[in-house]
Amino acid sequence: MSLVHSFRQALQKRELKSARRRLTIPNPSSIDFSSNDFLSLSTSPVYRAKLLHILNNAPPSQPLASGGSRLLDGNSAYAEELEKFVAEFHNAPTGLLFNSGFDANVGVLSSVPQPGDVIVYDELIHASAHEGMRLSRAGPRVSFKHSCVESLREILLKQVENDSLVRDGRRNVFIVIESIYSMEGDVAPIKEFVRVAEDILPKGNGYFIIDEAHATGVFGPRGTGLVQELGVEEKMFIRVHTFGKALACHGALMMYQAVVLCCPDTRDYLINYARSLIYTTALGFPFLAAIRAVYELLSAGETEPFQHTLQQLILHLHSQLMEIAPLNPGLLEIDHFPGSPIFSLRTPIPRQLADVCQRKGFVVRKIMPPTVPAGKERVRVCLHAGNTLDEIDGWVRTLQSWLEATQISLL
Ligand SMILES: Cc1ncc(COP(=O)(O)O)c(C=O)c1O
Repeated sequence: MSLVHSFRQALQKRELKSARRRLTIPNPSSIDFSSNDFLSLSTSPVYRAKLLHILNNAPPSQPLASGGSRLLDGNSAYAEELEKFVAEFHNAPTGLLFNSGFDANVGVLSSVPQPGDVIVYDELIHASAHEGMRLSRAGPRVSFKHSCVESLREILLKQVENDSLVRDGRRNVFIVIESIYSMEGDVAPIKEFVRVAEDILPKGNGYFIIDEAHATGVFGPRGTGLVQELGVEEKMFIRVHTFGKALACHGALMMYQAVVLCCPDTRDYLINYARSLIYTTALGFPFLAAIRAVYELLSAGETEPFQHTLQQLILHLHSQLMEIAPLNPGLLEIDHFPGSPIFSLRTPIPRQLADVCQRKGFVVRKIMPPTVPAGKERVRVCLHAGNTLDEIDGWVRTLQSWLEATQISLL
């Protein structure tokens, strides 16, 4: 059997399980209830003007491409200055840019935990964190129940009981979490996690690594993120902020970027050991300019009105869904955390609901295994500052008609 034939068979298997992934081209006239462009910055004239201003005012001598890896020819004063600016905004000692959130998580998790160290992670952390852990030299990698403080406590207690090096503080324990989970849309109990870790690992060998991908721009004063909203910056060993979601450094520039916030020694360590930083071409000037533009807007508070509008839309949809869901037991359940732009609609037939919405011009996505565990299928709905009340009401009417029709067909 040829290799390509075996590919076809694998794809066929996915097809039969309705799990085959396909690239789709968004219809520009559809209403976006799906993308991670939470602040609608990618279409914002303010952002466009700021970015074009930076690009147009670059001196003619400014190379557009980076020319190589950061460690060879790809570094620049502009990149270093930008890292300082971003780190200062996030109240962090230093920052290190990566070409994507995926690269950042892989770089951090593959290199920072030392041989034998323990990694304890939320069971729903992103695939990129799993990829990093897979490449890591750490010893045990143990998951705890999603956002469950008791489960984290149990796992940490077990590590302390079973391993005298952990108990003595001579072996590090990394606790890997996100601030908002992309598929559930819920917010992690960060302060409670910190209390548990400090309680069980009093020697200071517990290190938090937090991914703020979905909180950046949306939560915290001026969109600084959840860690800064809670004032727990100093409790986090490493924070990863990605720019491809609410910060719109994607689409036009076809690329995602991220910053790792950490102490200067950790930054130096990553420059020496994070292979996803070392062995890749550094970001070129247009990408750096996109980050600069968005952080200037954040820093000047110019994205706060978008944050505010987004929060109002979230409240509006939340209250409507909370009325509808109890009337449709068994067919619709809503998972939504206050303030989160991501709504998770749990239904046993997500494909049908998503298809009906798509046909009516509303882009929502069904989320199926293997992206989520079997039994946790859902329709994911994301709000954006650029959505309108009319759009939301229109989608809610579509949802209601679908629920009514489905209830009748089930009779
Ligand atoms: C929580 C989380 N971390 C990291 C990433 C990867 O970020 P990027 O898209 O910048 O590679 C994603 C997105 O896909 C994500 O949802």
